[in-house]
Amino acid sequence: MNTVIEQLKSHRSVRKYKEKTISSEVLDQILEAATMASSSGNMQAYSIIVTEDEKMKEKMFKAHFEQSMLMEAPVFLTFCADFNRMRRWLKIRDAANNFDNFMSFMIGSIDAILASQNAAIAAESLGLGICYMGTTLASSTELSEILELPENVIPVVGFSLGYPDELPEKRKRLPIEGIIHKEKYQQYPFYEIAKIYEEKEREGMKRYQDVGIENLAKVYTEYKYTEESHIKYSKDLLGLLEKQRFLN
Ligand SMILES: Cc1cc2nc3c(=O)[nH]c(=O)nc-3n(C[C@H](O)[C@H](O)[C@H](O)COP(=O)(O)O)c2cc1C
Repeated sequence: MNTVIEQLKSHRSVRKYKEKTISSEVLDQILEAATMASSSGNMQAYSIIVTEDEKMKEKMFKAHFEQSMLMEAPVFLTFCADFNRMRRWLKIRDAANNFDNFMSFMIGSIDAILASQNAAIAAESLGLGICYMGTTLASSTELSEILELPENVIPVVGFSLGYPDELPEKRKRLPIEGIIHKEKYQQYPFYEIAKIYEEKEREGMKRYQDVGIENLAKVYTEYKYTEESHIKYSKDLLGLLEKQRFLN
């Protein structure tokens, strides 16, 4: 098998890290690989914030729901949708600002996410491990203050980065036929949905045995991602988009 595909297939999120620091040469290689990702119109409408300072990590800890990876890993990377830089450039060149709207937030987010996954793959190819943290988006308002983000900048994804101190079991994926549609979308009949999720239910429930909830679907809706929390995060994010001038 091709080595890139082999590496992609061996991915697992790493949540425990060695104390070993990451040299600036290695970190620079990862960051440079991030910037090689495709981006809309080659605008690169994103910024990457590198957190290494313990005091900064402590400030971010609560916003990241006190997830241990943040403190354990030597580096945390926050990928932000960023039209601030571009808009300032437009200004000095006397060009119009067409980027203070929701479409531009989506464009910046896509650019940021593509860069983040490039960085993740580069890091794994160099023997490091990563774990994305969804708290980057859930707590985007708090993190924007901590990271002193100016207008038109929103944190979208982030991950902890360091040398792995564990080799977790690989987590199962949905069978490929449950994801791929040939030419047109084929609606899944319910019996096929049950089949597509069968393995995931079996594997997933092993991790949530102690939660006392009857099935994996309900683990997702009653434990991991409740309606209440998701409505709150949505409202917070919309408020931040308004404040950061992405909703004109
Ligand atoms: C956007 C995003 C947010 C995530 N947030 C968290 C998180 O907050 N905490 C965590 O432990 N894992 C988090 N993960 C990791 C997922 O749980 C993990 O990717 C998934 O279970 C599949 O496991 P694997 O990455 O080991 O293959 C996140 C992953 C993504 C892509």
